[in-house]
Amino acid sequence: MLKEGDPVKIADFSTRYVKSWILFLKKDSEFSTHRGKILHNDIIGHKYGEIIPNLKGQFVILKPTPRDFLRKFKLKTQIMYEDDSAIACNIAGITNGMVVGEAGTGSGALTLILASLVAPSGHIYSFDINEEHQENAKKNLEMTGFRKYVSFTIQDIRTSIELKDLDAFFLDFSTPYEAIKSVELALKGGGHLICFIPNWGQVEDTVYEIQENPNLILQECFELTRRNFIIDPRKHIMRPVFRDLVYSGILVHAIKILRPLR
Ligand SMILES: C[S@@+](CC[C@H](N)C(=O)[O-])C[C@H]1O[C@@H](n2cnc3c(N)ncnc32)[C@H](O)[C@@H]1O
Repeated sequence: MLKEGDPVKIADFSTRYVKSWILFLKKDSEFSTHRGKILHNDIIGHKYGEIIPNLKGQFVILKPTPRDFLRKFKLKTQIMYEDDSAIACNIAGITNGMVVGEAGTGSGALTLILASLVAPSGHIYSFDINEEHQENAKKNLEMTGFRKYVSFTIQDIRTSIELKDLDAFFLDFSTPYEAIKSVELALKGGGHLICFIPNWGQVEDTVYEIQENPNLILQECFELTRRNFIIDPRKHIMRPVFRDLVYSGILVHAIKILRPLR
């Protein structure tokens, strides 16, 4: 049963493209939509999946996913969008119990996806040089319920990292090539290094540093693209969106190896 303080996603399924809102339940509060007011009291005591009574639309009460929470994030930086982070996390095999590092924290978008995957037994160590960015990210994470799985530190990741045996490390800032050595030392054997890089020149420098490091093996390097479609079979419409964000960056993946001691 839903109670005060619980997060809910309210979705209107009566429109062609589902319209939705995220809110936290508060007794005697109300919320305005294009189809009228929603009273929080009408939701408290109900369950996820139920339809809110007495409204013209078909408003369904859903449990927000981490992806839904990203829509509520206050952004202070460029972020890693969820389709890119999904691929990156899949490549590194991020799962419950893992201990993972990332830099920079930015707005906490990747942090949230990582935390939701390693919870409840794992942990995320998130580094940034910018205090304002990290404070904002902390607030963003606070509302999601995943804050407790993340340790935030203000640190330039290019200097040595006081962590060892990490399962993976994600780099998302403009000069990842300057942090390859410090991150390699923090990874465990078989650990994954993932760099998300928007500019091709930085890709070249990053791959160079990886190849120069005897304890890293380059696995792959590929472009992250996405093409959104407009689909309406009743009108025989099926085509890519005219103006769209199709390119987000390049993903570079390497693995740490343990060389035998001589
Ligand atoms: C593009 S944002 C990261 C976005 C983040 N992955 C997200 O999804 O919200 C880059 C961040 O890296 C931080 N940064 C830049 N250089 C850094 C360094 N040497 N060490 C740690 N953080 C750094 C910046 O302050 C900025 O907040």
